[in-house]
Amino acid sequence: MADKNPSQPQARVTELHQQLHHHAHRYYVLDEPEIPDAEYDRLFRELQALEAAHPELLTPDSPTQRVGGKALDAFAKVRHQVPMLSIRTETDIEATGARNFDTRVRREMGLPLEASDEAPAIEYEAELKFDGLAINLRYEDGVLVQAATRGDGEIGEDVTQNIRTIGQIPLRLTGKAPHVLEVRGEVYMRRDDFDKLNERQREKIAAGQKNEKTYVNPRNAAAGAVRQLDPAISAQRPLSFYAYGWGETQGWDDKPDTQDGVLRAMQAMGLPVSDHREVVLGAEGLVAFHARMGSLRDQLPFDIDGVVYKVNSLALQSQLGFVTREPRWAVAHKYPAQEQLTTVQAIDVQVGRTGKLTPVAKLAPVFVGGVTVTNATLHNEDEARRKDVRVGDTVIVRRAGDVIPEVVSVLADKRQPGAELFTMPRKCPVCGSDAVREEGEADYRCTGGLFCKAQRKEALLHFAQRRAMDIEGLGDKLADQLVDADIIRTLPDLYRLGLSALAELDRMAEKSAQNLLDGLEKSKQTTLPRFLFGLGIRHVGEATAKDLARHFGKLDGIMDATEAQLLEVNDVGPIVAQSLHTFFSQPHNREVIEQLRACGVTWPESEPTAQAPKPLTGKTIVITGTLPTLGRDEAKDLLEAAGAKVAGSVSKKTDYVVAGAEAGSKLAKAQELGVPVLDEDGMRALLAG
Ligand code: IVH
Repeated sequence: MADKNPSQPQARVTELHQQLHHHAHRYYVLDEPEIPDAEYDRLFRELQALEAAHPELLTPDSPTQRVGGKALDAFAKVRHQVPMLSIRTETDIEATGARNFDTRVRREMGLPLEASDEAPAIEYEAELKFDGLAINLRYEDGVLVQAATRGDGEIGEDVTQNIRTIGQIPLRLTGKAPHVLEVRGEVYMRRDDFDKLNERQREKIAAGQKNEKTYVNPRNAAAGAVRQLDPAISAQRPLSFYAYGWGETQGWDDKPDTQDGVLRAMQAMGLPVSDHREVVLGAEGLVAFHARMGSLRDQLPFDIDGVVYKVNSLALQSQLGFVTREPRWAVAHKYPAQEQLTTVQAIDVQVGRTGKLTPVAKLAPVFVGGVTVTNATLHNEDEARRKDVRVGDTVIVRRAGDVIPEVVSVLADKRQPGAELFTMPRKCPVCGSDAVREEGEADYRCTGGLFCKAQRKEALLHFAQRRAMDIEGLGDKLADQLVDADIIRTLPDLYRLGLSALAELDRMAEKSAQNLLDGLEKSKQTTLPRFLFGLGIRHVGEATAKDLARHFGKLDGIMDATEAQLLEVNDVGPIVAQSLHTFFSQPHNREVIEQLRACGVTWPESEPTAQAPKPLTGKTIVITGTLPTLGRDEAKDLLEAAGAKVAGSVSKKTDYVVAGAEAGSKLAKAQELGVPVLDEDGMRALLAG
């Protein structure tokens, strides 16, 4: 690109100044960034490199000479008694970031670079690097008197009214508090809170409220909430806080002498401090912490962008001191960014088992959140339109937690002329049947039913999956071939497969053909809930299938039930009842069931049970870690049979957490919320009533 021509460094520097000023303003002042942090960092580093190579181009107003952003005029200004510094950041994904840091510290201390008996390894305290915004909380005689943003490090904004609305932040410290204590930490938004907030925002936008917007990521939403002018609105935004440091202190008589000690003391005063921190020895300890937290990252309920290493001894910290605006005793070690830029190569429309049409953006491969991403769902027509994603667009892709990657926004000024608005096809792209969007529904659906090969494949895989009919040997590729070659048109065709038909398929060696036939034979002896679930009736998941089977005992009872009778079943509401009734009133569905039975599919039936109250009805339980004797599915089955609902994540509504070996963030969350934690024996005791 001409603008990067090294022979014109002056022009490029000017351009970078303009771009970085613009983006810093969007980020720090408006809380509305247009580009991912990683992209901002790249521009910033490019400028730093140019300034290093051409010192004459470095001016005092360069964006590299400033930390953070200017305070917004709307808030009163606060001069920090002790400046709020930033930390040096290492971004490499190798272990060298930790080693370089340890080496620098040892060199500063005049120690040999390798640890030995005479010069032992340095003790570090390692923490998470929370992705939110830095806040200074000033407590005087234990009472919160002021909260301020970092601003440019010297002068921040007074956001006391907004911060007071965060339930986790104590308005008064417990125990004996120093005369003055400034607590520094991060205000952040949990990912589930962020999703809920954006969901509400989308509803407002859909209802025509013009001034509402959705947020790009939790950090941004948190910053927007803290810097919201109306504290009443700020109070509706669910924010969280973790303390990790301090500013001015006065009269702290028993101040601990380590970083870890100070954080413990803060915790004892009632301040939230993360449990994901460790005191470790030397570079090896740091490397191991970085790796451990890296594998935990996806399971944490909030975003982190790295870890922070701090020299644990406060005496050593002050000996090491600062270079310009960064302490020598701390460093941030980043993980791969969770947001990146890429381009949209196409927008495909996929057809699911229930006929739902989903637009999917096909992306130029991009490494984000630790994986290479090539697809991102656009959910439905409204979402695709709201984001206005078009083929050829440059977009920000986000992947955080173990959630599916998402296109968060489009870079409008990079759009190519002539890029066309996305429209949902009115015909199913797979079978050509009409695609219709019913009133009040967000999705278009193909009306082709099992005539549509896409739906047939999905239906087949759903039927065969482990928790349904558990047909060994039937995977994705084979389902594709069987449907494409029209060997399977309906589910019973599966049980009519013979060796010769199978052996003709690609890569279907005789042995795997025989394996599939064995798997099919074995699957014929099943249970009613598995069979029901396997039919793929809309809104009938595993738990509902179990409830139905228990209530009616026999399939015929379910097939002939009226909607009113279906509504008597535990947890069955009008939508599920209607879906079941519609399904069983279609003659072709009854035909499929009859043929499956004729092929030998069978299950034990029982008399209908009057629903006796079960010991765990109404209880929500989460299982985490490895239990000593029970597999996870077994534990789940036992709990569900006793009436409990088994959920995937811990919240205030969780009644118990059953934890085994190597339980991670869910256990921590349970402890944080005070949810009772049981081991396997405790669970058995609970089941026994
Ligand atoms: S210590 C003098 N610890 O990262 C050291 N910072 O540039 C001051 N951050 O925006 C920072 N988690 O808000 C520290 N455990 C942690 C942190 C942390 C997140 C943020 C901080 C600041 C940036 C540091």
